[in-house]
Amino acid sequence: MAEILKVLKGTKDILPQDINMWQFVEKKANEIFSTYGFKEIRTPIIEVTELFSRGVGDTTDIVNKEMYTFDKSDRSITLRPENTAGVVRSYIENGMSRLSAPVKLWYKGPMFRYERPQAGRQRQFHQVGVEMFGIKQATADAEVILAAVSFLKSLGLNDLDVEINSLGCPVCREDFKNRLKAVLKPYFEELCDDCKNRYEKNPLRLLDCKVDSCKKIFEKPEIQQVINSDFICDECNNHYTELKLYLDKMGIKYCENKLLVRGLDYYNRTVFEIKSNNLGSQNAVCGGGRYDNLVAQLGGEPTPAVGFAMGMERLISLMEKQESKKLDGYIVSNYTVDALIFAEELRNQGLSVEFDLTNKKFTKQLEKASKVAKYAFILGEDEVSNNQVSIKNLEQGTQIKVDRANCVKMLEL
Ligand code: HAM
Repeated sequence: MAEILKVLKGTKDILPQDINMWQFVEKKANEIFSTYGFKEIRTPIIEVTELFSRGVGDTTDIVNKEMYTFDKSDRSITLRPENTAGVVRSYIENGMSRLSAPVKLWYKGPMFRYERPQAGRQRQFHQVGVEMFGIKQATADAEVILAAVSFLKSLGLNDLDVEINSLGCPVCREDFKNRLKAVLKPYFEELCDDCKNRYEKNPLRLLDCKVDSCKKIFEKPEIQQVINSDFICDECNNHYTELKLYLDKMGIKYCENKLLVRGLDYYNRTVFEIKSNNLGSQNAVCGGGRYDNLVAQLGGEPTPAVGFAMGMERLISLMEKQESKKLDGYIVSNYTVDALIFAEELRNQGLSVEFDLTNKKFTKQLEKASKVAKYAFILGEDEVSNNQVSIKNLEQGTQIKVDRANCVKMLEL
């Protein structure tokens, strides 16, 4: 026998018994984001590698360690590890800056990161997200967070923690970075290898380190003092205060987390995450923030922007499992041609219908019907000769005989 091939490590099949959860999440995303005026965009899964090294940032783990990159026709190509950079490219390339602001886009689809697989972390995973372009005021940040929370509520996920922080702007952040470096310098040798690397390139990312020995260092009072200092400039502070006011007014509960720095380089001012206690160590279902410099960095006119993305696998693992949908009807008959024709008539009227393709015994067919359908449509000798059908409600056990033409009218679907 030929060798059986297996799915790649860190990737998963989404099987028919689980697909209704995925379809439900996708349907809700469309419904809820549309109510906020977001329109769906679909960008390619492959992009030129430079989009991510320039967009996501070449000091990030994503770009340094996690990208699936290959060469084709002398071009370096990468499977998208996230979709903000791709949406920004499309926004610029398609002249969306000429549209009146805000331009509001949402997306869903697979992303690829070569990470160590574990519960809640895959190499191919799916995100659903939104991006809003053209508004610098904190109203945009508030609206994006509101859209995230109401989408989560529509999935039945109410019990989640919203964390926010402000990273300031490149100007005020520079001073903070220098102070952080100065206070960490005496401990440099004790830092993990990743943090040693980040120390020069992107010291803010040290705050996000999950290694225990590094976390211990950050607990030292002199380091805590720098972390907790209000480093952001007046303008950034006003923006942050305004955002908090809007969230308060909208009844969105949040907590401020000074250690929240996010793993991508493009953020400024607002960053946020939405976390669940029921997800283990990979506890973020949503991550996002403002990225006012990315459009210009990728060659467009300077345009403020804010957005988020959520991991669909993580969302689904938190949702209550939904029963697979039953068929509307299953035709029970040993008159194959009649069954074939009647099934098609019902399908043309929008019903989901199957019948036994192998002409099994009547009782076997009825057994199958009660497992897979809401109604059994019985075509016995009597029904066939009178162009009728017996409809058996498989939940209630009741049965009526009607003309076939009236069948659909008699159903409660
Ligand atoms: P991110 O924090 O890298 O942000 O990813 C967002 C969410 O995607 C995470 O909170 C998590 O739920 C999910 N996720 C990330 N990596 C994995 C993985 N390996 N396996 C399973 N789920 C994962 C971004 O991607 C930004 N583009 C978000 C954004 C949009 N910021 C502004 N606009």
